[in-house]
Formats: sequence, structure tokens, C-alpha cells
Amino acid sequence: MAQRLAVLTGGGDCPGLNAVIRAVAKTAILEHGAEVIGIEDGFEGLIHGRVRPLDYLSVSGILAQGGTILGTSNRANPFYYPVEGAGEVRYEDVSQRVVDTFRSIRADALVVIGGDGSLTIASKLCQMGVPCVGVPKTIDNDLFGTDQTFGFDSALVTATEAADKLHTTAQAHHRVMILEVMGRNAGWLALGTGVAGGGDIILIPEIPYRLEAVRDYILKRLAAGKRFSILVVAEGAKPLGGHVVELRRVADGVEPVRLGGIGNKLRDDIEEATGIETRATILGHLQRGGPPSPYDRILASRLGREACKLALNGRTGFMAGLRGTEIVPVPLEQIAGKQRLVELANHLLQTARSVGTCFGDGV
Ligand code: F6P
Repeated sequence: MAQRLAVLTGGGDCPGLNAVIRAVAKTAILEHGAEVIGIEDGFEGLIHGRVRPLDYLSVSGILAQGGTILGTSNRANPFYYPVEGAGEVRYEDVSQRVVDTFRSIRADALVVIGGDGSLTIASKLCQMGVPCVGVPKTIDNDLFGTDQTFGFDSALVTATEAADKLHTTAQAHHRVMILEVMGRNAGWLALGTGVAGGGDIILIPEIPYRLEAVRDYILKRLAAGKRFSILVVAEGAKPLGGHVVELRRVADGVEPVRLGGIGNKLRDDIEEATGIETRATILGHLQRGGPPSPYDRILASRLGREACKLALNGRTGFMAGLRGTEIVPVPLEQIAGKQRLVELANHLLQTARSVGTCFGDGV
């Protein structure tokens, strides 16, 4: 009997999800003669039994498409699922429903394409007898066990383009221009954008900043004849001894805080401290949309192919990760619940320091 492989995309979307779905499904169909079942809207589909077959044609022509043909959800944690009743929302463990749906579709394994939340769920489901394989997704690049996640490079391309455009208007108006990028508690996207986009100041969550250090750096540039400055800030950056700026709280249980707005705070603080006209741009979900970059199309294809092979060869309980230039299996339980942050000794961070970039921690 032909093998059957189920696949879902969980958590926030990012460019490259369809490229992974395509690689998983095509490898399964063409190389293993297997059948593929698509689960709709992440774990939501397994909780409510929303599944559909994915044949060759349905995954053809989607390599360069943003979003996910399967849909996704970041509210569908089966171990902490919101259930409405009597005018209030309770959180329940509905994981047995996931196990039951999985059994009912008679799949041999489940490929979970997701970030830390989805892969932590996958790790727990493995322990309940649902054989899972993970694929590391997120623009934040903060997943443990892989050198890079797919989606990050595409977001970096978008953010760098924005920084380049802010550069010309900053120069024209002699202003401080702030670009706020996403990344949650990790500074990878801000660091990459700052280096690629020639940011003068980069503020990341891993290095709490001092406003005085930022002010002095901008004034020093001014004194040296540089009448503008570009500042790239991660949404999770915060002042030394201070707090992150919360945009809103959402009802998705496990991770309710949405960050955003530090750029506007810095705009007011910097304008007041320096007297230089300052503007802020919050890039937001533009970073998650659109077609994947060529690098992400390639990475997503390689990860998807490997995840399919692990799943169909019975090597479940792993994530396909990138180590150096190789795609390697990484045990899901080793990565569950962990976050990969920028270390102070990071080579890119050191490179930025060497070319004079300010991280807001100097005098
Ligand atoms: O994890 C990806 C991410 O885009 C973060 O960078 C950001 O903090 C968050 O998701 C935004 O979530 P939402 O799409 O729910 O606003």
C-alpha cells in the first residue's frame, strides 16, 4: 500500500511556505509514490478535521507564491486551545482530537512547517504517538538547531530595500530616519538589515540601549559633517532598565504580546535629545508578504525534500535543519521551547562594530 504523508503550515506566515509544501509533496509523489494530505489552517485543521488531498497539480506552480496554499493559524495550540462558552473563553487541552484526526486519515507521518511554537507542539505530539518531522520557518530566524530559517532572507531583502529608500530621503532632508523591523525577542532581522542597509545605529533586544549613547553618536556624526543618520531598530529592543513597547495583546493564549512602536518612541526621544528632525517607519507585515527570495526558494526546497525523506523513511521526531551548507536532522526535543538569540560575540555584530556602527551601548 502506498505511504501517506500529511503536511501543515503553522504559526505566522512567511515567504517560502509554498516552496516547502511543493518540495515535500513532489518528493513524496515522484520519488516515493506516496499520497499527500494537506491539513488546513495549521493545527486548526487537525482539531476540526479539515483536510484535503494534495495531488501533483495542486502543488505545481506555487514555488514563488507568498503565503501558504494550506492556510495557517497562530491561535491553534491543541494543548491550549481557546473554547468559547457562556460568554467567556476557556483554554482546553484538545490534543487527543488531533491524534484522532491523524489516525483517521491513516497517514504515516506529519510534516509540520512552523516556528518554535509549532515545533514544540510537534515534539509533544510525537510523544503522543503522532510521528512528526519539522521544517524551520520564521522571518525572526530565532529557531534553535538551525543556522537559518527559511523566510528570514526574504524579509531581509524587503527590509534592506526599505533602508536603502530611507537613506536617500534622510540625506535630502538632513534627518534621522528610523526603520523598525520585526523579529520578536531576537535581533537577527535588525542586525542583518542594519549591516546590509548601511545603518549608522542598530538597536537589538540583546543589547539594551542608552538614549545618551544614541544621542552622542548622532551629534558626533553631525559634528563630522554627516547631517543625517539611519537607525534600524528591532521591535523587541528596549532601553537599559526599561521595557519593550507593546503594540497590543491578542487572544492567542500562549504568546499574547505583539510588539511594535519602539520606533515612534525613539523618534520622539531622539528629536528631543538632539534637536534634529526625526521620522519613523514601521515596516510591519510587509516583511512577511510577497514571493520568497531566490535564497529562500532554494533553502525551502532543500528543507522540504529532506523533511519528506525523513518522514517517509520512518525517521520521525526530527527537524530538517541547516548546519553550515548541509541539511541535517535535529531532534525535535532538543529545540522545543528554546530561542536562538544574537550572541555578543556574533561575527556579523562584530563586523558592524568594526565599521563604526553604534549599538547604543557605548558612551
Ligand atoms: O514571528 C513572526 C512575527 O512576524 C514577529 O516578527 C512578529 O512579532 C509577530 O510575528 C507578529 O505577529 P502577528 O502577525 O500576529 O501580528
